[in-house]
Amino acid sequence: MRTVHVKLRERSYEIFIGSGALNAIGPWLAKQGFSKKALVVTVPSVKKLFGAKVEESLCSAGFAPRFAVVPEGEGSKSLAKAIALYGECIRFGMDRWSPVIALGGGVVGDLAGFVSATFMRGLPFIQVPTTLLAQVDSSIGGKTGVDLPHGKNLVGCFYQPKAVFSDVSVLKTLPAKEVRNGLAEIIKHGASLDAKLFSFLEHGVGKILSLDEKALEETVAWNARVKAGVVEKDEYEQKGARMLLNFGHTVGHAVEAASKFRLSHGESVAIGMVGELLLSHELAGLDKNDSTRVITLIERAGLPTMIPSTVPLNAVLAAAKLDKKARAGTIRAVLLKRIGSAFVAPVPLNDFKKAVEELAK
Ligand SMILES: NC(=O)c1ccc[n+]([C@@H]2O[C@H](COP(=O)([O-])OP(=O)(O)OC[C@H]3O[C@@H](n4cnc5c(N)ncnc54)[C@H](O)[C@@H]3O)[C@@H](O)[C@H]2O)c1
Ligand SMILES: [Zn+2]
Repeated sequence: MRTVHVKLRERSYEIFIGSGALNAIGPWLAKQGFSKKALVVTVPSVKKLFGAKVEESLCSAGFAPRFAVVPEGEGSKSLAKAIALYGECIRFGMDRWSPVIALGGGVVGDLAGFVSATFMRGLPFIQVPTTLLAQVDSSIGGKTGVDLPHGKNLVGCFYQPKAVFSDVSVLKTLPAKEVRNGLAEIIKHGASLDAKLFSFLEHGVGKILSLDEKALEETVAWNARVKAGVVEKDEYEQKGARMLLNFGHTVGHAVEAASKFRLSHGESVAIGMVGELLLSHELAGLDKNDSTRVITLIERAGLPTMIPSTVPLNAVLAAAKLDKKARAGTIRAVLLKRIGSAFVAPVPLNDFKKAVEELAK
């Protein structure tokens, strides 16, 4: 098993990566001196696949686990579901040392993290990510939260987990669409932050798509190191470094909202990266050869590179103007100087509009 250390002073933690990591949860928890009542937050499909294994690991280490199952999908990231989980914690008789374990994708991680952060002002929180996206991105860095009817992730806080267990063998059952969603964030990490990771992906994308365990382990560990490195520099997203994780996301979020969320987040980010490559070419002198390499990798990952004709362009522009990052005729986006080197720049809305139009041709 590989370990990636996230160094955040008294909030530091380990990410355990490898096939079999699920079995390590119970023994690790037992060493921490937590209370024995452990709440496992999950969704029905993931409970069916891995619930028994996690339960066994916990029980054999002396824990009394209880499962709290929320429905699949983004709809569970709500204040209503958080309140329901506070009720579970109370009925179960949890105290401030009772661990909460998120077993699932980013939805379960964000929701369970928010509940752990807020119930009794904070319970120990453990991430057990089971989607590729959650293993390479959402389980690391401590962003937790829920959605409001007005928009995604509007309520939440930073709350680091005590440990992350990324078992790559669980990815075998992941639907191909979810693998591609994770790959979009992985390509994002390479293109904007790590040229060597990008070359590794150019060689290995086929193996990742076919869920080769060794390739997955190396990919998850590498991406965990990249994300941890950024989080260590800027835990609370105040110094600019963490903003660099948003390559493809300014255009991507606008496309995602304009599609009324019919395009997945990964598909939207893939299209968004192509848009921001065009902007990087215009405004930051990015070499055409570099943008061709990124676009080729996005295509090989089975992700889209153009805005589908069903998504109205004026809705994309309207969504961009509403973005938190928009101000006074410009919108902030992450641009590339070259592969692996990114910076944040104000983009004039006119340039933004041209790039979006280009994405629909
Ligand atoms: N906190 C962060 O830093 C951060 C970063 C990125 C995304 N997010 C959030 O993550 C969420 C998206 O997460 P996601 O893409 O993991 O989606 P998700 O949590 O909805 O998971 C997708 C679905 O995959 C299935 N699934 C999960 N694991 C499986 C497995 N091993 N085998 C078979 N099926 C499995 C389940 O049906 C699940 O409902 C969004 O809400 C987003 O806002 C958070
Ligand atoms: Zn994303």
